[in-house]
Amino acid sequence: MPVNALYTDLSDYYDLMCADIDYEAQSHCVHRLQQIFGNGGRRHLDLACGTGPHVRHFLDAGYRSSGLDINQPMLDKAALRCPEAQFSLQDMCGFSAGEPFDLITCFLYSVHYSGSIERLKACIASVHATLAVGGLFCFNVVDKSRIDNRLFASHSVAHEGSQFSFQSCWHYHGQGEAQSLRLSIERTCAGETQVWQDEHPMVAVTFAELQALLQPYFDVQVLEHDYERIAPWDQTSGNALFACVKI
Ligand SMILES: C[S@@+](CC[C@H](N)C(=O)[O-])C[C@H]1O[C@@H](n2cnc3c(N)ncnc32)[C@H](O)[C@@H]1O
Repeated sequence: MPVNALYTDLSDYYDLMCADIDYEAQSHCVHRLQQIFGNGGRRHLDLACGTGPHVRHFLDAGYRSSGLDINQPMLDKAALRCPEAQFSLQDMCGFSAGEPFDLITCFLYSVHYSGSIERLKACIASVHATLAVGGLFCFNVVDKSRIDNRLFASHSVAHEGSQFSFQSCWHYHGQGEAQSLRLSIERTCAGETQVWQDEHPMVAVTFAELQALLQPYFDVQVLEHDYERIAPWDQTSGNALFACVKI
């Protein structure tokens, strides 16, 4: 199966894999950040929107939301979940839009899918070009110098007579601008188990490098990766929420 099968052949399992994510809390936190730091406007674009769970919450909170993603099977699911939203098949490292946005989001570490520093720069430039002045670009990231390759997240869920186990971990070699996200999906049904392994190439950066890329364009706040409270990054956590206001 090709790399990134989770977003194509296995996309029916994506929402199950994310069943333990509190999308409502994440969306609400970013809405608060938009009110505190951004321009308060309601034109919203979600980059790498996947099956659209955040778009759903932003629509319900009164935003005029849209999403883009590079994989059509994900967008097909997003369109079913959010029939009133606009979705487009685009690369977040070179997208265009007909109107400016007040809020651009990129959740679940998806900004790392830009894959290289050059493409990350192109993503930041596209965001800057499509954001209204005072608008907010908000995303979460992991710092390559703080990745522990031994750590992983896992969860299990029963669905339509099958038992699913999902596992994910970051992997970084210790140098360079490439890291990967390794995923494993296990499905057991009537005593038979199928296993899929998926490895996703991603860009590796430090928070300091990322701040340097963003600062010419944005006023940057680095915050703790906590969707329940807004607090400055404690300088030790390996993941963080970036809130960037267009200057
Ligand atoms: C981990 S999922 C996140 C989906 C959604 N944001 C969420 O929080 O559930 C990553 C998504 O990024 C999309 N993606 C990967 N590379 C992309 C790119 N270059 N441009 C746009 N979307 C991309 C994938 O198709 C997938 O839907």
